Amino acid sequence: MPPPARSPAWGPRRRALLLALLLLPMLLLLHLLISSPSLRPLPAPRKPSQSCDYSAGEWVRDASAGPALRYDHTCKEVFKGWNCIANGKGNGRDLLRWRWRPSGAGCELPRLDPRRFLDRHRDSNIGFVGDSLNRNMFVSLVCMLRGVSGEVRKWRPAGADRGFTFLRYNLTVAYYRTNLLVRYGRWSASPNGGPLESLGYKQGFRVDVDIPDQTWIEACSFHDILIFNTGHWWFAPSKFDPIQSPMLFFEKGKPIVPPLLPDAGLDLALQHMVTFLKKAVRPNALKIFRTQSPRHFEGGDWNEGGSCSRDQPLSSEEVEEFFSLDNNGTNIEARLVNKHLMKALRQSTFRVLDITRMSEFRADAHPSTTGGKKHDDCMHWCLPGLMDTWNDLLAVNLEVAES
Ligand SMILES: *[C@@H]1O[C@H](CO)[C@@H](O)[C@H](O)[C@H]1NC(C)=O
Ligand SMILES: *[C@@H]1O[C@H](CO)[C@@H](O)[C@H](O)[C@H]1NC(C)=O
Repeated sequence: MPPPARSPAWGPRRRALLLALLLLPMLLLLHLLISSPSLRPLPAPRKPSQSCDYSAGEWVRDASAGPALRYDHTCKEVFKGWNCIANGKGNGRDLLRWRWRPSGAGCELPRLDPRRFLDRHRDSNIGFVGDSLNRNMFVSLVCMLRGVSGEVRKWRPAGADRGFTFLRYNLTVAYYRTNLLVRYGRWSASPNGGPLESLGYKQGFRVDVDIPDQTWIEACSFHDILIFNTGHWWFAPSKFDPIQSPMLFFEKGKPIVPPLLPDAGLDLALQHMVTFLKKAVRPNALKIFRTQSPRHFEGGDWNEGGSCSRDQPLSSEEVEEFFSLDNNGTNIEARLVNKHLMKALRQSTFRVLDITRMSEFRADAHPSTTGGKKHDDCMHWCLPGLMDTWNDLLAVNLEVAES
């Protein structure tokens, strides 16, 4: 048998090899030219920019975003009621196929890169201080980071509700539960009388506007970055019923008379906490205040059969209908709380993490009927989901702050 003719594939392959050998030195030279700083044609455009306002923009459909899950329903930290995929919420996966596009020209909100994040925050501590919505956000961050670095120690730094140390990076992320930021507890009239008793008050909640809640005092000396929130509980009549169990504000240990309404109490508490934190945190600590997370109850409030069954983000017009202060609707709380926050933070050294606008659109992203409660949960958020975008925004903020 004659030796086989050269296989037809051999010719092109050899030509390709030859070409590569010829091209290689040229490519190397090109690479050298490009990576030499003085000759680099353009700076990398992906760096987060101080000039971009990432908090304004719109949600765009992004088919590629869904499959690229950053973590899934098996992340153990996800609270049962927020696990929309495991709970079979109809759009549990679909709600991830939306990407936030900031409105400024050329502005993109980069996805948090967990490895980069871990690397940048080596040997440091990040604390979330606030209500369950801050826990919602904390869990998202923990799950994203665990996705690339599973060696964690679960523990509770002093006062914390929960915390994790990413052992390879010596980074601790912890959550501190506090509803009002300030201390509060049950109050009932004293038989010996007093200013509130003489006004006819029998029971309620004593809220000390100038005393931080015990849970997070020690977080101040432990963390390099602190992310605060408060809001929902100031306007939660189910707990602080104006008649049955009103908030009774105290300052310097004495009742404030005439008694204040919750919104005035909130102003005072914020003012005191901003002042307190100026001295209480570590010298180089970064203090961040997160704006109010909007709720999306339709057809009544949470205790009136309200629901949130949409499977798409709201349009801009619908957002205004929901949240405009002029409409005085069910979910007015978001922008109302923000007015108080902005007033208190204006002259402070806090950075503001403004997640309100992007979240107002996302009526589709709550656990809704799958939250495992007697009523629909249109307040917390599905995980994975919008919280991941909050953390994208947090990561960008941290990079800008530290650059
Ligand atoms: C871990 O980080 C802390 C600061 O948060 C630092 O004090 C400590 O020395 C670090 N531990 C190691 C083993 O590097
Ligand atoms: C807003 O609505 C609530 C009831 O939903 C009502 O009690 C309150 O008076 C209204 N406020 C204004 C300014 O209309």
